[in-house]
Amino acid sequence: MDAQDVKSNLVLILDFGSQYTHLITRRIRALNVFSLCINGTSSLKSIADLNPSVIILSGGPHSVHSPNAPCFAPGFIEYVESNKVHVLGICYGLQLIVQQLGGEVRVGEKQEYGRMEIAVEKAVGLFGNKKIGDRQSVWMSHGDEAVKLPEGFEVVARSRQGAVAAVENPGRRFYGLQYHPEVTHSPEGMETLKYFLFDICGVTAGWRMEDVLDEELKVIKSTVKPDDHVICALSGGVDSTVAATLVHKAIGDRLHCVFVDNGLLRWRERERVMETFERDLHLPVTCVDASEQFLSKLKGVTEPEKKRKIIGSEFINIFDAFAHELEQKLGKKPAYLVQGTLYPDMIESCPPPGSGRTHSHTIKSHHNVGGLPKDMKLKLIEPLKLLFKDEVRELGKIMGVPQGFLKRHPFPGPGLAVRVPGDVTLENRLDILRKADEIFIQAIRDAGIYDSIWQAFAVFMPVLTVGVQGDQRTHSYAITLRAVTSQDGMTADWYYFDHKFLADLSTRICNEVPGVNRVLLDITSKPPSTIEWE
Ligand code: XMP
Repeated sequence: MDAQDVKSNLVLILDFGSQYTHLITRRIRALNVFSLCINGTSSLKSIADLNPSVIILSGGPHSVHSPNAPCFAPGFIEYVESNKVHVLGICYGLQLIVQQLGGEVRVGEKQEYGRMEIAVEKAVGLFGNKKIGDRQSVWMSHGDEAVKLPEGFEVVARSRQGAVAAVENPGRRFYGLQYHPEVTHSPEGMETLKYFLFDICGVTAGWRMEDVLDEELKVIKSTVKPDDHVICALSGGVDSTVAATLVHKAIGDRLHCVFVDNGLLRWRERERVMETFERDLHLPVTCVDASEQFLSKLKGVTEPEKKRKIIGSEFINIFDAFAHELEQKLGKKPAYLVQGTLYPDMIESCPPPGSGRTHSHTIKSHHNVGGLPKDMKLKLIEPLKLLFKDEVRELGKIMGVPQGFLKRHPFPGPGLAVRVPGDVTLENRLDILRKADEIFIQAIRDAGIYDSIWQAFAVFMPVLTVGVQGDQRTHSYAITLRAVTSQDGMTADWYYFDHKFLADLSTRICNEVPGVNRVLLDITSKPPSTIEWE
């Protein structure tokens, strides 16, 4: 399937603010169909430019009757009908279709939240592969209810309470589900979504990561002129590494990468990542050891945000110096900067009702490597900007980035500075932390549980506590172990370790790390805590 076919099979999601919107996009991509998500209120032109063959209207927290209820652009109905686009409304999306096409939506008498049972009333359209009376469990989350359908629509499934669960007007290509087919709590939901896309809409599956790679290589080759040079700051994380590997494949050694050791890296991290860059990926990387520079600036600084700012601005200074040196060497300015921005960084969902914010497409200012000089005037190459994290990992795998590297836990830009509360430069706090952290991570790897954990690390506790080691009393520091499970880092739960595992670990850390006589376990979820300690 070439790029044109992929585009002509696009499933476009109009986002009306549901927490599940990105999940729909990901689920559809997992079916090898390209899917994009844009704001529900996007202009008709931005929809038409994408030329989707299917449009899904997402759910959302609003009521169609609330004053600021988001709606698709004027002319949307005419556009989809004249272009023969299939439309599926989910929850709020269904209610929007009903309301906008002349039906009636009211606050439901029986509001339905959570797991519900629905039964097929007509074995046609969305349930053309089912029998009348077939039941299934689905995940509902709605207060409003469609009480009068627009002309030509019919109900094809109802909940036990008799509320509308699915509607359609196949002649006009409009469909609606009152529940969320994309969540795992709707076990047959994906079957319905697949049936809708492949059997009803006739979408062809053909979007593969290999095609994404080919397409991105083509785009980079045609954008970057033969004598242009490109720079990239590698953080040692998955995103910047995959982005750089991709650009390197396209333009070879006209890519110039820099990796900065800020003195806040983990045990042997510099050696480990440089080995991957050079030996496995053959990336042209300059390693700058700026530990002294960072640590001297951090001396005596205890305020967490100030620490972050210092680290961010020091990074900019070093990157600036690297770019100027490169310019001297090449006799010309580098033209482009590669960034590993991901799709979720690009989009901000529809804000919740009452938040006072408008429904706008905002690009977040956050970037992995912590901001870059504004006066450099480099054009950006962001080859991952349409991909989710798991897709970036897949892309990396195709390009030969080692699996172990791709599966590394996230590591914050300010590094160990946010894991040593207060002044990071006092005594040998960073060394103590590195040793304890390495023992913890190795034990997790040896136990075969590394991939079940989102993020695990040790934190240095700047408190001296009494202990007894040998025949001596000690006054030493404590180490806290933090390990969490999470989908996206936004919320997290603490990981339940085996007790024997923890007991052995505690003994090892106290025995093997001088300066530590106590080991604690952080048993707080996010919220109320954050994952990091600062
Ligand atoms: P929190 O601590 O906010 O962390 O629950 C959520 C995720 O973000 C990472 N994190 C950071 N990453 N710069 C970064 O690049 C930072 O300042 C920063 N603070 C937290 C954290 O490791 C977790 O994955």
